Amino acid sequence: ADFTVLCCGGGNAAQVATGLFSIRYKTIAVSFYADEAAKWKAALGDEDFELTLPGGKVVKSKPHDITNDPSVAATANVILLVVPSHAHGEYFEKFAPYMKPGTIVACMPARSGGDILFSSKLGEKAKDMIFCGFETLPWACRFTEWGRKATILGTKNNILAAVSPATAKQAMAKLQGLLGVNPWVQDSPNNLGISLRNPGMIVHPGVMYGRWGPESWDGQPKDESPLFYQGVDEFTEKILIEMTDEAQAVARKAEQLVPGLDLSDACTLKQWYLDCYDGQMTDTSSLKRCMNTNAAYDGLKHPCKEVDGKHMPDLTYRYLSEDVPTGLCFAKGLAEIIGIPTPTIDKVMIWAQGCIGLEIMVDGKMTGKDLDKTRAPQGMGITTLPAFLLASKIPALL
Ligand code: NAI
Repeated sequence: ADFTVLCCGGGNAAQVATGLFSIRYKTIAVSFYADEAAKWKAALGDEDFELTLPGGKVVKSKPHDITNDPSVAATANVILLVVPSHAHGEYFEKFAPYMKPGTIVACMPARSGGDILFSSKLGEKAKDMIFCGFETLPWACRFTEWGRKATILGTKNNILAAVSPATAKQAMAKLQGLLGVNPWVQDSPNNLGISLRNPGMIVHPGVMYGRWGPESWDGQPKDESPLFYQGVDEFTEKILIEMTDEAQAVARKAEQLVPGLDLSDACTLKQWYLDCYDGQMTDTSSLKRCMNTNAAYDGLKHPCKEVDGKHMPDLTYRYLSEDVPTGLCFAKGLAEIIGIPTPTIDKVMIWAQGCIGLEIMVDGKMTGKDLDKTRAPQGMGITTLPAFLLASKIPALL
């Protein structure tokens, strides 16, 4: 049978991935979001999909189908989720009854805890499947004509990814084959390292808190939307350093508790900037300066809404509504399981949960009624380290 790839989602990334993989493989685009699949199928009609590559070359291809029917998972060799992470659970759940043993399910980007969510949604079946978490999307990309044309603005040179179980190394080779020469997929030892490396869970909520939290903002509108990265000041830097240090404490304690567990990819935020933006920052002397002087961030502003010609922050933007549930909640939940105090993460979380209308922490504990809408292990019924390691497919001598 043909090597079959499912590309899930319908936004920028999913359209680009569908165009790219359709060139060489039997590719089925799947979207469960509203009537997006039917709309996309109608928009494309009998035409080819046009993908513009960096440098301007245009390639045409045609997906085998565009559907909202989960049963196509029965034919899939690889299922790629290229959607915002809050949608991952729905895809896992709907595909679960159809997936055949050995199916590779890859999330780009995975954010945090995608592996344990996958285990919790698949139940018994999870042990026969391979989960792959990518630290980021390989491309900067946009559709230019919805459903018909898209552009890859740039492709990353290297990205980190991990497979669960770690023994399924052949899955990584298959994914590298799908992606082509660029990006080079660097094998990370486990998905826990990818989860705790997630820079967005620190940067986005941390910078939002630093600017709009109760310690620094008077609630009044601003004349301009402030700069997001270039505007990081000493107070915000302090919050970010405390958060990244708390996440580090979680990683180092986990390494102590689980002999042989390698979480070296779960680095500090500053180290992540040095790894990923080498040469694009004019001053790397501090975390603040890495963020202030990164050319890739030039001019990027805080998400704001205009009110009477002035600017108010959008406190429901994905920097809080995605990065808290599928990032910070994972790290905080694991911290609680292994007994690491996280006072600054708690402070940011308690502020953020109010902004996004979720109850996550109650009286300093991960017991809120909305935990099941997050990647906190507690929301999946996981409250002990052995249960966590089982869901993570990390063999442990416990
Ligand atoms: P997007 O915003 O274009 O994705 C929209 C799609 O998400 C929709 O078309 C739908 O399929 C799905 N969706 C939205 N709301 C939903 C809901 N309530 N329920 C179910 N599905 C829903 O995002 P894009 O650009 O495709 O990015 C995908 C992921 O990749 C995101 O996590 C993004 O942060 C990340 N990323 C994107 C980059 C880019 O250049 N586009 C670069 C780096 C990361």
